[in-house]
Formats: sequence, C-alpha cells, structure tokens
Amino acid sequence: MISEQEFVRITTYLKSKYGINMTGKKVIVNGRLENYIVSEGYKDFGEFMDKLEADKSGNLEIDLVNMLTTNHTFFMRESQHFDFMKRNVVPWIKEEAKDTHDLRLWCGASSTGEEPYAIAMLLKESLGLEAAKWDTTILATDISERALSKAIEGRYDAEQIEVIPEAWRNRYFKQLPHSDVYEVTREIKDSVIFRKFNLMDDFPFRKPMHVIFLRNVMIYFDGPTKRKLIEKIYDSLVPGGYLFVGRTETIDREGTGFEVIHPSIFRRPNEKNQSIGC
Ligand SMILES: C[S@@+](CC[C@H](N)C(=O)[O-])C[C@H]1O[C@@H](n2cnc3c(N)ncnc32)[C@H](O)[C@@H]1O
Repeated sequence: MISEQEFVRITTYLKSKYGINMTGKKVIVNGRLENYIVSEGYKDFGEFMDKLEADKSGNLEIDLVNMLTTNHTFFMRESQHFDFMKRNVVPWIKEEAKDTHDLRLWCGASSTGEEPYAIAMLLKESLGLEAAKWDTTILATDISERALSKAIEGRYDAEQIEVIPEAWRNRYFKQLPHSDVYEVTREIKDSVIFRKFNLMDDFPFRKPMHVIFLRNVMIYFDGPTKRKLIEKIYDSLVPGGYLFVGRTETIDREGTGFEVIHPSIFRRPNEKNQSIGC
C-alpha cells in the first residue's frame, strides 16, 4: 500500500505538471499503480518516483499519466451539444468564414477519439453539398498517449457505435471482415488531426478557433487552474466563438468575459451577435 508521503509526492507532481488534482483519492492512486510498481520490480512507490524524475526519455512520466487519467468517453455524449452545433454554430460559422471557408475547431481532451470523430461527422452532415469547399480539419489533443493511439486507430466495437444515427454509421464506418469491430472511414480519419498536448502549457495556435470543445476534463482541475485555463481559452476564440464544457461541470465566469448561452455552452461576445437560446 502506498504510504502517505509517497501519495503526497505523486499527487503534488501530477498537480504541478498536469493540473490534475487527486487529493483525497489515495485508494484510487494505489489501485491504479500498485500492480505496475510490483511487476516492474520497484521496491516501492518512492523508488519509482526517483527513477521517473531522473528519466530523461519521459517514458516513465507517460506511464504514470496513462495509468492515472480517466479516458472514459463515448460517441454522441451530451447529444444536446450536437443539436446546438447543427442548429446554431454551423450556420454562424458559414456566415462568419464565408470568404475563407476555414472552420477552426479544437477538441482539447479528445481521449480515444469518439468525440472528435462524431463532430467530424456532424460537420460533414451539416455542411452537406458545401462540405467539399470547406477546410473542416479538427485539431484533437489529449495528454494520454495510450488514448491517442486508440483514437488514431479509429476502431470501435459494434455496441460502442450503436448510439450513432444509422445513416452516419453506414456512411462513416466500415465493418472489419469476420468481426464485430468497425473502423472509421478514411474520409473521417483525414478530417481529424490528433496531437499530444498538455492543457497546462501555452496554447500554440496561430489563428483563433471558432469552436472549442473542452468537455469532462476540468473536473480534474482545482479552481485557480480552471480559471487560468478558461482565460487562455477565451483568448484563443474568435469574437463570437463558442466553448462547450461537460454538462456536469461548472465554470466560474467571474473575471472572464464569456456570455452564458446555456450552463455548458459559452460564447465570446461579439457586438454583431444577438444572444441565442439553447
Ligand atoms: C473523461 S475524458 C473526457 C473525454 C471527452 N472530452 C468526453 O467528454 O467524453 C478526460 C480526458 O482528459 C485528458 N486530460 C487530463 N488532464 C489533461 C491535461 N492536463 N491536458 C490534456 N488532457 C488531459 C485525459 O487524458 C482524458 O482523456
């Protein structure tokens, strides 16, 4: 069992590098790491942390993050957001970017890919015949390399894709021979770029985004970390741009200029726009 001192050392490290707050979750941290510590031959958690801090390759740090992050996600999660995108956001972008046809959307905690792939399908469907004229490449990032490799592979079991509208399933997935596994089509894979990115780092975008999805990740961060992140997000949106967060998450709007469209949908104000109800 992890000692109190080892637990504090690991949680302090995670908090300072990744913003992830695991205070009070000693049993979870122990449960997720113990087998690994034993099977890799470390005498205790402290020895693992000594090696990790001295490890220039960064591989041990990757192992730690992979083991302690929760990558739970599913297709069409919080489907009201998809309806709102279709009804309000896509029509706004069509007008806003009508000269460039450059639609910029970032999915900042994309986990195993279900979220950005579903958004890619939604964009293709909503733009219809015009889709070919638009650059709708989605940037999808996550800190977990394990989640990112699964996302890039783009393979899901039949039951995982059941919630996707049938027409989309037929259009955007291919069943692998003799199996119950379905792979996202090349067209959809090509419209999502996956990259490793830590939300605690400075954002490297050259151009501001029209839409940012940052759902079900801020639950891991404490108040000050969230506030800093929200400020960076605000600055990375075009005026009129949208932020989607998880429906059970709260953001403290004080000090940010966001307009609340719905408790989980925020908009950077733009004098030209009128508020829209959800
Ligand atoms: C619960 S999943 C949410 C996935 C998806 N957005 C959804 O709503 O279904 C949270 C994801 O956040 C990622 N994450 C946690 N801390 C992060 C950080 N500091 N930077 C980037 N991603 C992080 C985890 O690796 C995990 O894949």
